[in-house]
Parts: sequence; structure tokens; C-alpha cells
Amino acid sequence: MCGIVGYIGNKKATPILLNGLSQLEYRGYDSAGISTIEKDKISLMKDKGRVKNLYDLTGIDSLEGTVGIAHTRWATHGKPSKENSHPHMDNSNTFSVVHNGIIENYNELRAFLTDKGYNFLSETDSEVIPNLIHYYYQKENKKEKGSFLTAFKNACLDLKGSFSIAGICLDFPDNMIVVRKDSPLVIGNSETENYISSDIPAILSFTKKFYFLNDLEFAVLYRDNIVFFDKNLSIIHKECQNISWNASSAEKNGFDDYMLKEIYEQPTAIRETIGFRLQEDGTCNLDELNFSKPYLSLINQIYIIACGTAMHAGLAGKVCIEKLCKIPTQVDIASEFRYRDPLIDTSTLCIFISQSGETADTIAALKLARSKGAKTIAISNVIGSSITREADYCIYTHAGPEIAVASTKAYTSQIVLLNILAIHLAEILETQDPKIISNLKKEILQLPKKIEETLKCSEVIKSFAKTVYSEKDMFFLGRGIDETVAREASLKLKEISYIHSESYPAGELKHGPIALIENGVTVIGILTDSTLVEKSISNIQEVITRGAKTLIITNQNIENSMFDLVVKIPQTSPFISPILSVVPMQLFAYYISKEKGLDVDKPRNLAKSVTVE
Ligand code: G6P
Repeated sequence: MCGIVGYIGNKKATPILLNGLSQLEYRGYDSAGISTIEKDKISLMKDKGRVKNLYDLTGIDSLEGTVGIAHTRWATHGKPSKENSHPHMDNSNTFSVVHNGIIENYNELRAFLTDKGYNFLSETDSEVIPNLIHYYYQKENKKEKGSFLTAFKNACLDLKGSFSIAGICLDFPDNMIVVRKDSPLVIGNSETENYISSDIPAILSFTKKFYFLNDLEFAVLYRDNIVFFDKNLSIIHKECQNISWNASSAEKNGFDDYMLKEIYEQPTAIRETIGFRLQEDGTCNLDELNFSKPYLSLINQIYIIACGTAMHAGLAGKVCIEKLCKIPTQVDIASEFRYRDPLIDTSTLCIFISQSGETADTIAALKLARSKGAKTIAISNVIGSSITREADYCIYTHAGPEIAVASTKAYTSQIVLLNILAIHLAEILETQDPKIISNLKKEILQLPKKIEETLKCSEVIKSFAKTVYSEKDMFFLGRGIDETVAREASLKLKEISYIHSESYPAGELKHGPIALIENGVTVIGILTDSTLVEKSISNIQEVITRGAKTLIITNQNIENSMFDLVVKIPQTSPFISPILSVVPMQLFAYYISKEKGLDVDKPRNLAKSVTVE
């Protein structure tokens, strides 16, 4: 849940590292630090607070080193403080290390090292790493070719937990070594310089050529070369991959915040995700999968497993998969699924959704499903991410980099892809009327235009947000697929505005939560399902009677006068209506957060990619 960046080349490392860190701040932002190899020492500069504080540290401008590592932290072990910030060095100041993840056996390792005479300056789990490297380095013939790598490898093999680690060594000023296990790290390559980063966008302006490490693979980076090793230090070959994202797609492009930019990018994100998977002539291709009818006929249940917003996309996906494929489908939260011994076997198909592809609970749930013999599909937005490498099959959303912590375009792209997947499976299984499928295909292809249409509600939502931004509680209601959007809308509001909110199936309100409704409370109703709209309106009338202020998002023709605001959105198939109805809700959360003067892109206590349990 921290951000790592590193550089080895012929330029001054510090400006490159600071720039990379500022792009990785969404991963954690309570402290930051940087280490470069200078003439006769490794420099270490770090402090509590945001990356921008590093620019003010005395001496940072005079760093000349062309090899360096840097880190932005989201505290797990030890409060945010200068001492607990990364990089961490060993007692002899020979090694400097940055770490993302959690070292589960750090108490044991710390006791071992303390016994050998090592001192610790921080409360972190990470500080054992440079000292353990030093411990092994002492035992080897120091400074001999390969001894840094051997010591680094020996130390890493003692670690339990999740980690991506980058290390530099004063005795080997032309090397940087990295490893990863269950935690993200990519290597960017260009002719005379190499980069490392926790994600692709942070170094995308320098290179489009990337290498991806598997668990416990090591890489030694030189200025003009990279050598890869397995955990026994045998040399292995890795293929370089070209990433087609462009750097400007990872920047703000004139928008005030990444979140707003990403909301407005949804028409493009959906267009890209549909790509050639769905064509005007009705062809549906999911070449990534090679399921046969006999195999699919054996599948008797589907699980969709994810966290946060991705789980909400899964709830919408369940509706279309069950309706089109006639296979019972359950949606589960990854952190629950992994510990409850789920009843799955070889006739279960498990779909894992993760924008980042690095969410620790989702990866662990995937490994569990595989160990029980289930077939696994990963849906991710990040090429080469961990879940894509763990799963049997992988299908990518092509939403482009999502930087704001609160997910928007990833959610809508995931729902599109789940619908395309449902169509693909239903066509193989022949479980749905071709007319219904054909209509859904047409509707999916029209989505980008309809999202553009929906985005026009921005001003009216902004004005409404101004009237309610100082409230303490809000409620989101819906039935059927609208209830899944209510959950996502409520999560968005909580995440970035810090207003307490609840989402409820509209019919459930009277069984308890209605006790919370009092004069002036804001209730938001999402009403897109023509078969349920009358029932939802009755439920909303119950809250109006009790003094609630109401905002309605609908594609139905309803009597407007009883509500404070009705926002009309375009009609579409009920399976994909969340893709349109969520848009005003994303804007609502956004404008409330802005009105409150909050940091929309980096909400307190949250991180974009949760690589710890
Ligand atoms: C974090 C983020 C959420 C996100 C969730 C799952 O909690 O703050 O916005 O939905 O992780 O992330 P994933 O990358 O697995 O989709």
C-alpha cells in the first residue's frame, strides 16, 4: 500500500524520483523519502507528510547521484514519522531499502538481529530487511561479484508475508536489486537507463517497455542491462512487453482532479473496453477464453469475488449472468470468501474482479479457488498485474490508468465486460433468446454516446450538492439492479466526502432504517427498472412523509412534482443501466467533496491499491 520508485542511469536521479513519487502518492501519503548513491555515501532524506515536503529538505537540490530509490508510505507498522519513513538503512549505512507490503515474521527477525547486535531506529517491519541483508553480506566475501545479490536473496527468502523491495548498496554503486512477492513492482526499460515503480503510469513518460516479475523472481538492474534470476539465482529469460497507454492519459488534462477527469473519460473507457469484442454486425468475441459447450455445461455455480467498488460491479454482473446464462451466481467479498471455506469444486467458475489486480484479499481468494479446483477468470485493468498472472484466464478492461482513489471508470468498464462475458457464455450455452441478446449488444454499443448524454447533468447535480454538502447522513435507495448502484453511490459519497451514508433495498427501509429519517434528511432514489419503479416510488413517498429531501435518478416518466430534484438519464437495457445511473452519483459525491474543500483524489485513510490484508 506504499509507492516505490527507482532509477539507474546517467541523469540525476532525484528529480526523476520525486516526480515518480508524486504520481504514486495515491498509494499512500503519510510520509516519503529518497536515497541516492553519492560519491562516498548513500544519502538518506525522508520526512513525515506529503511528497511535496521533500522538496523543502535542506540539501536535496545538491544530490548528484544517478542511482536512487524512493518511497511514499501508507503506515501499517508504526505511526507516520520521520523514523518510520522509508528508505531504511542498515546499521553500517551500506544498504538502503524501500519496501511495500507486510513482513509477517518481523518480530522474530528483529529479535534474531537484535541478538546479533543490530539496533533498530524505527517501529517498522521493513527495517529488518536492510539489516538482514547486511547480516548475510557479512557472512559472505564482501564486495565480491555477486555478493550483494546473494545477501539480498538470502534475506528475502527469510521473509514471510508480502513484499516488493528495492535495494541499493554503497559497495555496488552501479546496481539496483529488486524482488517482489504478492506485491506490485514493474521494471521500465530504456537503452541507457532503467526504472522501477509500483505501477506503470508513474514511469510511463520515460518508457513504454516493461518487464513484470513473478513471485520471488529477482532482477539486477544496471544502467544498460537487466538480469533476471529465480529464487535459486539461476538466470531466467523474461519477455519485454510494450504498454500502449500514453503518458497524458495518466495526467489531469486540464481537469481540476483526476476523479473528475476519470468520470468524463467513461465514454472512451467503455469504447475501449468494448473494442473489437462486440461488433456492429453482432459478433461477440472473447478470444481470451476458450470455453467449450461441454465444459460450460458442467458448471453448476459461478462466484464473483472482489473488494470495494469492484465488488459492486460484480453485483451488477450477477444479474446479467444469471439472467442470460441461467447459472446460479453468488457475489462475495474477497476478505470473507478466503476465510470461510467456500463450497466450490471443479464445477465452479470463479470470476475475480480487481482494477489494480493487486488487492491482497482478492489474490488470496483466487489462490484458494484454484487450490479447490475451480476454474478462474481475472478481470483487471492493469496488464501483467498479479491476479492476471495467477488466474487461468484473464480479460482486461481497457479503461486506461485510474489514479483517483475513488474508482469510477473502472467500475463502469467492469460492468460492460461482465455483460460481454455473460453474452459470450450464453451464446455458447444457448441459454437465452437470441433476440434479447441481440438487443443487449446494440444497447452496449450505444453506451458511450449515452454516457456523454448523461454527463450533461453535471451542473444540476453541482447545484444540488451545494444545498446538501453540510449534512451528516444520507440514504440511497433502489430495488433490483438499482440497489447495486445505490451501494456504489453510498460508497463514493463516504469515500470522498466523509458524510455518513447508508444504502438500502427500498423495500427494506420500513424494517428498521426508516427510524433514522427525520426532517431535512437527504434520500436519493435510483429508479430505472420499469417493473419496480412504482414500488420504489411508494417507498420514497414514505420518507417524504417524514420530511426527507429527495433526489431521484431515473430513466422513467414519473411525476416530478413530489421530489426536490429529478435527474433524467437515457433509457437502456436494465442489465447495463448502472453504467448510466452511477454517473450522476459519481458527480454528486465529487461536488460535495469539492464544496467541503477536501482532497478528492486522495481521501483520508484510503489507498488506491490495498496490497495488505
Ligand atoms: C481500495 C480502493 C477502492 C477499490 C478497492 C478494490 O479499497 O480504495 O476504491 O474499489 O480497493 O480495488 P481493486 O484494485 O481490487 O479493484
